[in-house]
Amino acid sequence: MGIIDIRGLRKSYVTRGRGYGPKSKSTGEAPVSAESGGAPAGAGRAPAAEKAPRAAKARRGQVVVEAVKGIDLAVEQGEIFGFLGPNGAGKSTTLKMLATLLAPDGGSVRIAGFDVVAQPNEVRRRIGYVSQAGGTDREATGRENLMLQGRLYGVSAKEVTARIESLVVSLDLGRIVDRLGRTYSGGERRKLDLALGMVHSPAVLFLDEPTTGLDPVSRAQLWNQIRSLRAGGTTVFITTHYLDEADNLCDRIAIIDKGSIVAEGTPHELKGRVAGDVVSLSLNHVEDALAKAKELLQPEEFVRDAIIDQDRLRLTVEKGEAALPAILRLLEGSGIGVVSIALSRPSLDDVFLHVTGHSLTEAERTAASPAQRTGDSR
Ligand SMILES: Nc1ncnc2c1ncn2[C@@H]1O[C@H](COP(=O)(O)OP(=O)(O)OP(=O)(O)O)[C@@H](O)[C@H]1O
Ligand SMILES: [Mg+2]
Repeated sequence: MGIIDIRGLRKSYVTRGRGYGPKSKSTGEAPVSAESGGAPAGAGRAPAAEKAPRAAKARRGQVVVEAVKGIDLAVEQGEIFGFLGPNGAGKSTTLKMLATLLAPDGGSVRIAGFDVVAQPNEVRRRIGYVSQAGGTDREATGRENLMLQGRLYGVSAKEVTARIESLVVSLDLGRIVDRLGRTYSGGERRKLDLALGMVHSPAVLFLDEPTTGLDPVSRAQLWNQIRSLRAGGTTVFITTHYLDEADNLCDRIAIIDKGSIVAEGTPHELKGRVAGDVVSLSLNHVEDALAKAKELLQPEEFVRDAIIDQDRLRLTVEKGEAALPAILRLLEGSGIGVVSIALSRPSLDDVFLHVTGHSLTEAERTAASPAQRTGDSR
């Protein structure tokens, strides 16, 4: 059993709407009873998860959104575990259930052996949670926020002071830590949120899209901070839709799409599943040329898989170097003009495409408007 043990976890939301149309955030995050009440960054100040109906049932004028459809996962102590998926995949919903902020409809979650529904206080004592929106007190300084958070978790003032000093250095908070929260820029606020999640040195840290809105330097600082937490034995469960973050930072990844886990493993294992090389083609007269090229190339023995991804044709082939001339010959023979051709090793996006039939980057582009991207899903 892992330090995080998830079995058959399910959650549906009942929300106002019609029985058709996108199950998306088009109306924003409609408040649902089980989710009411805001939680600040730390689980210590979090409200208890209210009892949700066992199975969500919609009445007239309501729809049921199946956000998490029965997932199983085991995360080992000291791992950085990545939960990767596009907007609306069910990442925040899962995280909120793991952090005792939202009652599951079914299944079970144990954190360090404690059940999130039956023993929420035991769980909360051991975790830190940074929500997608964060939760700093804007009328207090960063240092006051951090001190309160640490003290709420029962850490001595002396220890919290030392811990704050170390976070100020590692997350580069020196310029802002003594200013009021409301004067912070978006990225600065995010950094303070993250410091709040870590100040009491929790055994398990949940981070919901921690690096969204951070500049590249801050992102790298945070990654280093997370790695040093791992070195100290902390387990970090992080949601992200950045492929490079999942690839570089995480020891293991689960890919979630539409409420279900579609793949799980180390980044290396996952990429190994897409055996072979990836050839990406862009063509003249995109629309019908793509379909024609796909039809032409798919039956070839060396082509394992052919998928149209936006304006490109992506082929998985056995030996890229050998396949390229053959592909060009075939296309030329059929009068299909090639604009560019690229050969690469499989990326996590190829894995995503392979297991879901659509690419993560594409899902990201179409899923949400900018306003929704900054919105939280508490
Ligand atoms: N309070 C709510 N009421 C109704 N539906 C909700 C609510 N919160 C989330 N949903 C829906 O549940 C699904 C999963 O949402 P969730 O917030 O878990 O996704 P996510 O993977 O965190 O996405 P993002 O990357 O955009 O943060 C979505 O379809 C969303 O619209
Ligand atoms: Mg989310």
